[in-house]
Amino acid sequence: MKILNYYRELFPELVKLKGMISENERKFLFHYASKVFSGQGMIVDLGCWLGATTVSMALGLKAGGKLQKPGKKIYVYDLFKWNHVFNQHVVGTELENLYNDGDDFIGEYENNIKQFKNIIETRRDIISSGWHGENIEFLLIDAMKTPEVTKSILTEFYPFLMPNVSFVYHQDFDHYLTPWVHILIYLHRPYVKHIHDVPGAGGTVFKCIKFIPDEVLSVDFMSLTENDTDEAFKYCKRIAHKSKYSGIAAAHVMYYVLQNKFDKAFYVWSDYLWEGYKLNSDFIDVKNLLDKARNRK
Ligand SMILES: C[S@@+](CC[C@H](N)C(=O)[O-])C[C@H]1O[C@@H](n2cnc3c(N)ncnc32)[C@H](O)[C@@H]1O
Repeated sequence: MKILNYYRELFPELVKLKGMISENERKFLFHYASKVFSGQGMIVDLGCWLGATTVSMALGLKAGGKLQKPGKKIYVYDLFKWNHVFNQHVVGTELENLYNDGDDFIGEYENNIKQFKNIIETRRDIISSGWHGENIEFLLIDAMKTPEVTKSILTEFYPFLMPNVSFVYHQDFDHYLTPWVHILIYLHRPYVKHIHDVPGAGGTVFKCIKFIPDEVLSVDFMSLTENDTDEAFKYCKRIAHKSKYSGIAAAHVMYYVLQNKFDKAFYVWSDYLWEGYKLNSDFIDVKNLLDKARNRK
């Protein structure tokens, strides 16, 4: 009851944080930090941008009375370099037209997290910073944007997940640009159990149930066979909220584009359309990418 009242009070604060995560994701992160987080490991926020994820969790820790013990609790990583793709997320705010490609925006993030700076350690590039080896209780991943950074997350951070304690929160489950995220979710399914798919948003939540062996963490996730690939995307669709079906289907097509299997990509794309998938923006964009990749060949 205390949490619920606190949550109602904090709700306007959570919603006004500038960030790409949805309202449902903010609620989830707040709820997790206030009610579930036990303190047996650290919270790691990979790809925080302006800190909306970080502050949602910090507010939750505060609401749950989990800030009494001194020491860092949240480790945050971001390049803090502006990219024009961020512009659409700041339209109508004081940040509109403020930053150009490559500008450093760490000051903006620091201002957003300032009331919690004692419990937060901020780092930049995931690849060069790595992880210092403490147990990780909550791994929020919104930075698997390239295969290189993905490999670094797998080798540096995953070995520190604790079976039956740790959670992995994957962003990028609802769109087609990072299809290796779907492949990894499939490859890791014996070790991380799917718990909850946040409706209408990229976030989907897993609980670690067993250590993930090194040989699984080091699988070449861009070279799966067609059979395994098709099974991987079927699995992702099974665990997804229906609002994400078309993004996952477009990711399936994209995976074959990245493997240079253009005919297979086209067949998968047309099969989905025959199944009744709408020709929405993800489907049009992935087909445009397929056509461009094919013409370059
Ligand atoms: C989609 S944005 C994150 C949005 C943020 N989680 C939110 O909800 O507002 C992805 C972030 O990943 C960061 N990123 C990409 N590659 C990275 C790397 N190698 N190390 C650290 N951060 C990285 C980018 O700087 C960017 O801010």
